[in-house]
Amino acid sequence: MKRFFIYVLSLLVLASCGGDKTTVRLADNPARAVNFDKTYPIVDSLLRVMTLEEKIGQLVLYTSDWDVTGPSIRDGYVDDIRAGKCGNIFNAYTADYTRQLQEIAVNETRLGIPLLFGYDVIHGFRTIFPINLGISASWDMPLIEESACIAAHEAAAAGLHWTYSPMCDICVEPRWGRISEGAGEDAFLGSAVAAAMVYGYQGKDLEDPLTIAACVKHFAAYGAPQAGRDYNTVDMSERWLREFYLPPYKAAVEAGAQTVMASFNELDGTPATANAHLLTEILRDEWGFDGFVVSDYTGIWEMVNHGTSKDLEDACIQALNAGNDMDMQSGGYSEYLAKAVKEGKISKKTLDEAVRRVLTVKARLGLFEDPFRYCDAEREAAETKTESNLMTARTLAEESCVLLKNNNNLLPLNKNSKVAVIGPMADRADDLLASWRGAGQVEGVKSILDGIKEMAGGVVYAQGCDVEKPGQAGFNQAEYTARSGGTVIMVLGEPCDWTGEAACRTSIQLPGEQKELLRRIAATGQPIVLVLLNGRPLDLSEESELADAILEAWYPGTMGGEAVARLLFGEASPSGRLSVTFPYNLGQVPIYHYAKNTGRPYVHHGVKYESRYLDCENEPLYPFGYGLTYTTFTYGKPELSAAEFGPKGSITAKATVTNTGSKEGTEVVQLYIRDLVGSVTRPVKQLKGFERITLAPGESREVEFEITPELLSFWRKDMTFGPEAGEFRLFIGPASDCQDFVTFKYNK
Ligand code: NOJ
Repeated sequence: MKRFFIYVLSLLVLASCGGDKTTVRLADNPARAVNFDKTYPIVDSLLRVMTLEEKIGQLVLYTSDWDVTGPSIRDGYVDDIRAGKCGNIFNAYTADYTRQLQEIAVNETRLGIPLLFGYDVIHGFRTIFPINLGISASWDMPLIEESACIAAHEAAAAGLHWTYSPMCDICVEPRWGRISEGAGEDAFLGSAVAAAMVYGYQGKDLEDPLTIAACVKHFAAYGAPQAGRDYNTVDMSERWLREFYLPPYKAAVEAGAQTVMASFNELDGTPATANAHLLTEILRDEWGFDGFVVSDYTGIWEMVNHGTSKDLEDACIQALNAGNDMDMQSGGYSEYLAKAVKEGKISKKTLDEAVRRVLTVKARLGLFEDPFRYCDAEREAAETKTESNLMTARTLAEESCVLLKNNNNLLPLNKNSKVAVIGPMADRADDLLASWRGAGQVEGVKSILDGIKEMAGGVVYAQGCDVEKPGQAGFNQAEYTARSGGTVIMVLGEPCDWTGEAACRTSIQLPGEQKELLRRIAATGQPIVLVLLNGRPLDLSEESELADAILEAWYPGTMGGEAVARLLFGEASPSGRLSVTFPYNLGQVPIYHYAKNTGRPYVHHGVKYESRYLDCENEPLYPFGYGLTYTTFTYGKPELSAAEFGPKGSITAKATVTNTGSKEGTEVVQLYIRDLVGSVTRPVKQLKGFERITLAPGESREVEFEITPELLSFWRKDMTFGPEAGEFRLFIGPASDCQDFVTFKYNK
């Protein structure tokens, strides 16, 4: 009977598919046309016949017991599925297991509505790419998109429909462990990365069983917790929020992301979980988002701790009324929504709207046509960790690494030269996969030491010390090893579980005895290449003195061992640029390139009353956008096609970039703009464009950027968004500290 019912509904749907073009999305990117403009009559048909309990079931999301990504595991999710009380599951994967659960939903519930399976596919599913902070340092949007596309293929083959990615939280707070999961400090770069990932996951047609739905998280401003402590209070002006924090979420929504996750934090005194300003006014009314919003893990329940709901029932009423459609794991919607609707505390219309959004996403994924289209054991076996996926992972790992220092061109090392490898992170393959490693497994993953062994002519190795525990018993052996090899490659960093969720620090120094180990090895006088594995900007002020070369490798993923070795020995060439500022020390934090000038900028050395420190520079150790290569580039002065333009026009800015070294290299050419006078204060520099170019030795290229009124727009004094007439400085250079500028005018 159930099957017959869903079959009849499906016929109704198929008869009328192909539907109206109701919304025009992705207007500036028509190639991305997906099936969002289709109407799905099955959704209306279902809504007409669903009971209150069945509707609520569609708003409930429980974790399976396959993975632990939050504080509580709830027993009985299989019974809940069978009873129609749970329409969505996360942390369950493999074609076989998802098929098993899907069969229960489709065959044993009255309406047979398929389950939606979600998972944290954050930087890969089985083939693990570098952490997202690393990925963003590649500044390579097509490759980032490809990595998300591969992650989607692998996840979809394992029965998954939905990833909790991209994480769009801008962050200038290195203490926060989750800075590793995002694209760094900048809204412009962050927006590009967010859109690329959505395109990669969702492809051109969400019904295609190789694509999965994206989830924009954590909405909003989760990356700005006070004191860098996870889940802590966030408070900032509406202007700051809109200018520096919201753009990546918006870009992901505009790229067609089907779902949004509300963040754990409060904002302006209201938990994001039930923040109608965020979830309804901004997200839906302003941005036109038509997918569904899910809470974060037990986020609804946590509103009681926040102190804005007296109990879970109250929290559920507030959350759904504010626009939070789906309850992840708190169990509150299951328990209290029916009562709340019966008592009129939630209107039937609000409930139906939320259910409609969830069912529409299921329809867009093609689940009503074939609920099992994603569970394909054969495809799962054939398309996972393929050679081609692994090669993409290797390339992205290479592009993510940032060369911070390279005195006397110590790198690249000659292939087959002798090296001494020292340090507690050198032989830890598991750490390369980082936190949020999806279903990635360490079997077959080569450590950095393994990678080096395949390249070098001879390798001696000493661990030296533990990565976090005290103890210098291994120092003598390490010194002896340093003296017996050629160049020393030290591999230091943070254990990978020191970043990610609930992994914050009050120090951004290398943990344990590692710094002391570096001092001791430096004292031997051997040349040192320092390879860093970490997930946040570290205080490297001493390390940058002691080491001759430094390669920031983040956590580079499944192919990280090979990728790092290839960079060290010149089989590949570093092209990454920092997507986040590295301070001299924690005292400078927050530090980011789009700072304001202040009324007393630091310009006259020696004058007391200026905005400066007594004991440290204002500038960072390594600025945003910075990174070296194995060659050198020079920039000609920026040139403009005209010195002014107005609302209907645009100008082009260009600069000639020349490879002046003896090796091919990739440069990330960056455009920064400063608005000199505004109705409100403006940053001293803001990233407004970038392009990756590869040049042969001696080759020059003109790189052009179009300067449009939109590029100059910001939230003006009256909180309208747009440009203001006046004078602007324009910089084209290799990093955010570039100095050469030209000026132009924008006229009303
Ligand atoms: C909590 C995390 O904040 C979120 O990023 C993740 O997607 C969920 N748990 C589900 O695992």
